[in-house]
Amino acid sequence: MSRRKQVYEGKAKVLFEGPEPGTLVQYFKDDATAFNNQKKGTITGKGVLNNRISEFLMMKIAEIGIPTHFVRRLNMREQLVRQVEIIPIEVVVRNVVAGSLAKRFGIAEGTALPRSIVEYYYKKDELGDPMVSEEHITAFGWATTQDLDDIMQMSLRINDFLSGLFLGIGIKLVDFKLEFGRLYQNDEMRLVLADEISPDNCRLWDTKTHEKMDKDRFRQDLGRVEEAYQEVARRLGILPEGGPGDLKGPQTVQ
Ligand code: TMP
Repeated sequence: MSRRKQVYEGKAKVLFEGPEPGTLVQYFKDDATAFNNQKKGTITGKGVLNNRISEFLMMKIAEIGIPTHFVRRLNMREQLVRQVEIIPIEVVVRNVVAGSLAKRFGIAEGTALPRSIVEYYYKKDELGDPMVSEEHITAFGWATTQDLDDIMQMSLRINDFLSGLFLGIGIKLVDFKLEFGRLYQNDEMRLVLADEISPDNCRLWDTKTHEKMDKDRFRQDLGRVEEAYQEVARRLGILPEGGPGDLKGPQTVQ
């Protein structure tokens, strides 16, 4: 049991108070949910893999000049992040038709999009995260037009960058979800990338076989879920030391 104060518990992660003011510890669970919590399960080792994958991708994104909440990884399941005020908007970027886009418009999954599409959803589980437009976001005061311009620009740059990175390891970045937060520092506010980037919130397809390597394997009961997450980490060159055996190691919070 942890002695630290829990700040927030989500479906896949827990946030604890960090060691110094303005920081939080983000703990990655093995719990998986889908369809707004209607389907629940566990993906053994997912927390360890997502912690590592998200660390790697956030650091790469910071290298191209996009600020993130990530500070450093602390252990197998935890990372230190800056405390931000989360903007209650889920930003989805799509390159290929899949998931809810396929369903909503009756377009075959796998259809290439002529250009990337950015969508916004209001982050509210009780309402099932309804899709919203810029009009709703600005009228309800969730973000300003300037914030949205910045968010759109950062999201598209992240999409270009990650698409290339994944393509290099034989993976098509079909779509993904991002969250942003407000970071207050010296009387200034900056928007930074927050949450996580992992196979939980990306669709990743093998470029040759089109095999799904993400949470759709859990959503659609395709089997070999852990193996898919592990394969993403392996191709990124970051499978935790000691290999998959390490994934079942102690989960105690230090
Ligand atoms: P969707 O096709 O179900 O709208 O999902 C688009 C992308 O967003 C997909 O990569 C999965 C991700 N996503 C989340 O990360 N959280 C969510 O709650 C939902 C619905 C999707």
